[in-house]
Amino acid sequence: MTTPRTSEHPILPMFIERWSPRAFSDKAVTDSDILTLLEAARWAPSASNLQPWRFIYGIKGTAEFDQMVELLVPFNQGWAKSAAALVFTAAVTTFDGERPVATHAFDAGAAWMSLAFQAHSMGLITHGMGGVEFDKATTALNLPDNLKLIMGVAVGYQGDPSTLPEGLQAREAPSGRQPLEAMTFKGKFSGEIKAP
Ligand SMILES: Cc1cc2nc3c(=O)[nH]c(=O)nc-3n(C[C@H](O)[C@H](O)[C@H](O)COP(=O)(O)O)c2cc1C
Repeated sequence: MTTPRTSEHPILPMFIERWSPRAFSDKAVTDSDILTLLEAARWAPSASNLQPWRFIYGIKGTAEFDQMVELLVPFNQGWAKSAAALVFTAAVTTFDGERPVATHAFDAGAAWMSLAFQAHSMGLITHGMGGVEFDKATTALNLPDNLKLIMGVAVGYQGDPSTLPEGLQAREAPSGRQPLEAMTFKGKFSGEIKAP
């Protein structure tokens, strides 16, 4: 089940080949696999090279993983419990309690994207999840006040869509994007902001 994706300008194929399936196979990932993804994330650029991202992961088949599944909203639990690993991404909001790291979420986003493309290059799939029980997860993951939980990421190998809850099977296809002209302006902004 695929939807063709095309680029308006020539780009590396990986940018349109990567997408976020929800069906995972039973194939396991190792700690080494996850550390390879996080190694890629480590090399993301960040403001003043502060690297304000922190990752907490769990591999399927462990008590840590089971606890992490419980930290997702029920919709995400329904499919992400079948992932081979979960990675929670948090961002450091301040290092000294005074000066905020203004770009913490942006920088953590760059790290997540590096993780996702490294995974793609290894034949793994990733699916980001903002649907997290944030208060519960912040406590369970032992996050201090200056470490803001941003998202969870389900990682694994792509599986058969028929394993998904029924309502999700038809949605198991790569999505499109708005045209480039809806998000690109030369000199100054002259568009309108509307949801895609
Ligand atoms: C920060 C972030 C949060 C997301 N939250 C969820 C989520 O809670 N549940 C879900 O099923 N998908 C979630 N997604 C997946 C997006 O819906 C998906 O990336 C988007 O539709 C684009 O599709 P693609 O990744 O296949 O290109 C999230 C993605 C990102 C980057």
